[in-house]
Amino acid sequence: MTTKTISPSQPLPQEEGASTKKLSIITYGCQMNVYDSERMAGVLRQGGYELTPDAGQADLVLMNTCSIREKAEQKFYSELGRLRRLKQQRPGMMIGVCGCIAQRARGEILERAPYVDLVFGTLNVSRVLDLVQQVETASEPVLEITDKVLDGDLGALPVQRDSRVTAFVSVMHGCNKRCSFCVVPNTRGPQVSRPMPIILDEIRGLADAGYREVTLVGQNVNAYGSDFRPHRSDFAALLEAVQEVAGIERIRFVTSHPLDFTQRLIDAMAGLDKVCEFLHLPFQAGADRILKLMRRGYTAEGYRDLIARIREAVPNLALSTDVIVGFPGETEEEFLETRRMLELVRFDAIYLFNYSERPGTVAPGLPDQVPLADKKRRFDGLLNMQKRISLAANLAYEGGTYEVLVEGPSKKDSAKLTGRTRTNKIINFPADPSCIGQLVPVRVTQAGLYALSGERESSRVEMPVIAGV
Ligand code: SAH
Ligand code: F3S
Repeated sequence: MTTKTISPSQPLPQEEGASTKKLSIITYGCQMNVYDSERMAGVLRQGGYELTPDAGQADLVLMNTCSIREKAEQKFYSELGRLRRLKQQRPGMMIGVCGCIAQRARGEILERAPYVDLVFGTLNVSRVLDLVQQVETASEPVLEITDKVLDGDLGALPVQRDSRVTAFVSVMHGCNKRCSFCVVPNTRGPQVSRPMPIILDEIRGLADAGYREVTLVGQNVNAYGSDFRPHRSDFAALLEAVQEVAGIERIRFVTSHPLDFTQRLIDAMAGLDKVCEFLHLPFQAGADRILKLMRRGYTAEGYRDLIARIREAVPNLALSTDVIVGFPGETEEEFLETRRMLELVRFDAIYLFNYSERPGTVAPGLPDQVPLADKKRRFDGLLNMQKRISLAANLAYEGGTYEVLVEGPSKKDSAKLTGRTRTNKIINFPADPSCIGQLVPVRVTQAGLYALSGERESSRVEMPVIAGV
């Protein structure tokens, strides 16, 4: 899980006459939340709110929360305590809470933390400016939680993005799956796909503003369009349409579900040159009995067959996945099936989670909850093994030259720039900042566990050795 404070980078037009106030947005959790924060920053800018990276200076602090696991919730409540102390020093400061915890806990947050001024849900993002203005004039806290997607949320909203090179674009709200461990269908509602023309307009606007890469985000992107009546399009059709947008050079997407991964989509990935050779495809558990209890709808073998077909169609594909250890009833043998999956598939990266009980889901009612000590042991065992696999996958890049989209200065070393290969490997290399936003060839000199180091191949710049350069 990431915690991120978005910082000012891309000015958007303000309403005339609006005075400037300072805004800080603290974002927890997934890319959907990052995107929602960028949209809220865009909408609030129209009301005169400018981003500041320092919550201590802000007139309005928004906490965009995540409730996917218990730990995420604990983190939120301790941060809220810190904001309370800030507010004691600066009583004019407004605190707003949104995102999945707000959607689930509703009025409870105001009861627990009466110093919060505003609580709104995951489906009220487009209303943020109105709500903040209500608080400015009201004498009591404002609470707005909607259970249905508002038209405003499907449509075009101004978005103030963190990067000028690569952008998240939401393609859908919610999720129609009912994985027995997952709180998302409760906190984000059923799947509602955004109309394709609206998505494409947003992406064309990004291309005009100089963006080179888009990541299409949703809880289950490859089910895109399945909620349209009549059934008008699917995710492959969306990828085909984005491929046509001039200026956009790379297309990525997260997250996919194995069950909705059609042959049509595999063909689209293979045939569309802008779609990157990278896939995040959660498998969650390696034992069929556990997969069934999780209500995932596939078997371990079915998952491996799918991977084999995708790898055949898309050579050099890099893969990442999500894995849960300690799901209720998971035996040692069943855990070893998960381990076997990692050994057989050899993912480039995994996101590993201890099973966490979530209110309102089915799994907490299952027998034989796994003791924390067992979960931890399984977690550590998998992590150690995966580190070796990830490092080996990265070492295979050493000596090779790859097309890199340069995103900006490296966070760790300001003398270097950072970017990604098409396979989503982070690579740091010394170069002139003028190449930010460009696709450049970089030779990998050293591979680490989480990132690669390299040198720009200047001699190759004029030679179109690598597509797109
Ligand atoms: N489709 C989503 C998945 C949401 S949650 C997406 O867009 O990413 C991300 C991951 O969190 C899941 O794939 C799962 O591995 C993990 N997760 C969800 N609920 C969990 C729980 N109750 N305990 C532990 N991990 C969980
Ligand atoms: Fe959650 Fe399963 Fe949907 S993990 S987001 S219910 S695909």
